[in-house]
Order: sequence, then C-alpha cells, then structure tokens
Amino acid sequence: MKSKLWLGAAAVAAHFCVWQAFASDAPTRIAAAVTGESTVSGEPAGHVARGRYLVQVAGCNDCHTPGYAGQAGKVPEQDWLTGDALGWTGPWGTTYPINLRLFVADLTAGQWLTVTRNAVARPPMPWFNLHAMSDEDLLAIYHYVRALGPTGQPAPAYLPPGVAAATPVVRFPGIE
Ligand code: HEC
Repeated sequence: MKSKLWLGAAAVAAHFCVWQAFASDAPTRIAAAVTGESTVSGEPAGHVARGRYLVQVAGCNDCHTPGYAGQAGKVPEQDWLTGDALGWTGPWGTTYPINLRLFVADLTAGQWLTVTRNAVARPPMPWFNLHAMSDEDLLAIYHYVRALGPTGQPAPAYLPPGVAAATPVVRFPGIE
C-alpha cells in the first residue's frame, strides 16, 4: 500500500515536468535538486539525492557513462549516463550501454519500475542487480536521471553474433 501511494505521488510529480525547458541548464538543476534548495526540476529533492548516490555506488556510470571507469570517475556530472559507443562483444553478439538520460525521458515512473523489475537484458548489463533493488531505490534512480535531463545521442543498436561492430569493443571469451 505504501509503495502504491509513493508511486502515485511519483507519477504525478513526473507528469508536471517539462524537460525541454531546462535542457541547457543541467548543472544548476542538478545542484538545486540534490541540495533540495529548489523544486525547479519538479522532482522530489530527497529522492534525487538518493538516486545520485545509488547511481554512483551501484556502478551504473561504469558502463553507461563514456570514459568513466578509465578516468577514475572524473567525468562531469552533466555527461553521466549518456550511453556509450564502446561495445561489449561475446557469444550474445555486441551490446551497447543505452543512453539512460534519453531512456527515462520517455517513461513514467510506473513504466520505469515495470522495465527495471522485469528486464532481462543481454550481458554485461547486471539486470539481476536491478531486480534486487527496492522499488524506492529504483524510483530514486529514476528521479535522479530525470533531474539530469535528456541529452546526447542514442547508443549504437545491438548487433547479433557474427556481425562485425564498426566501433571499438571489449571482447569477452567464448568467441573467435
Ligand atoms: C557492466 C556494464 C553495465 C553496468 C554496470 C550497468 N549497465 Fe545497464 N546496460 C548495459 C548494457 C550493455 C545494456 C544493453 C543491454 C542489451 O542490449 O540487451 C544495458 C541496458 C540497460 C537498461 C535497458 C534494459 C532493457 O531491458 O531495455 C537499463 C534500464 C539499464 N541498463 C540500467 C542500468 C542501471 C540503473 C545500472 C546501475 C544500477 C546499470 N544499468 C549498470 C551495461 C551495464
């Protein structure tokens, strides 16, 4: 019951957001949302701060932010979670970490929960870690990524096994 109420409140909050209006002002919006100084983003401040923390410690940036792991996390926050054109090739084909900034822009809070609760993505996406998170944590991540705002390009599309990638790739064992 509690989580249903929460979800309802989150959906209402999401409904009133007009992202395009804030697209060029990401750093200010992030700072305001994280400190709770302003509700300009329309997202609940406490949840945004929690989501930022979770994104950082749960490793989402490691794959979904270009250069993040290789540069010891020294990537400006406005570029976080914009997806990567570095592919991951293995017996499953080649996958690319999606642009989560664009992904959440098209989803309500309820749709995000449905996706993250049921996702069985290809490797190396640790979808099972999303399944292990509470609804509250998944929604905090949603509000944080929404507060960052939509930006960047979609990541390259998935390639089936045997199709050569036009981008650099990390190669897993199990393929020639
Ligand atoms: C080890 C690399 C890696 C990490 C860490 C990672 N992802 Fe991913 N993620 C990917 C890849 C690659 C894909 C694309 C998978 C595919 O094409 O099937 C993906 C896809 C997704 C999707 C789309 C799932 C779907 O069913 O469409 C979501 C949502 C997502 N990631 C969220 C997250 C979140 C939130 C975190 C942090 C908790 C995270 N990812 C951490 C690599 C990663």
